[in-house]
Amino acid sequence: MTNTELFDAAVRAAAYSRSKYSHFRVGAALLAADGRIFTGCNIENASYSLTVCAERTAIFKALSEGVSEFRAIAIAGSSDSDFSKPCVPCGACLQVLSEYCRGDLIIVLSNGFFRLDDLLPMRFSDSSMR
Ligand code: THU
Repeated sequence: MTNTELFDAAVRAAAYSRSKYSHFRVGAALLAADGRIFTGCNIENASYSLTVCAERTAIFKALSEGVSEFRAIAIAGSSDSDFSKPCVPCGACLQVLSEYCRGDLIIVLSNGFFRLDDLLPMRFSDSSMR
């Protein structure tokens, strides 16, 4: 599985986006350690704050099926059919990813790939509460 293939899976996942309010379609493709891919899209709600981002849809699907080891996640977002502009994951999604993924998780965007630790160098965690 190449980064390009994973990114293409994220673009395909964006087709299922439910984004009637923002008209911004986002897809995510999460690569598990066992090679399985869990895709997700953003799912909006008339009560806006109930919207779920594509990344969280993908990781919640995986976790809820007992999968908990991840290698990479690709994210693609667009308000038309051009996914060339990078869709950087929001802070909430980075926080959720950091809870369940290692810091060396690869985050594939349209402009390259990054480590989770690069995008979220500090975070609130269980150790923050001890
Ligand atoms: N969105 C995502 O799905 N992922 C992100 O990391 C950033 C934003 C969605 C939420 C909302 O449906 C739309 O993009 C506009 O904010």
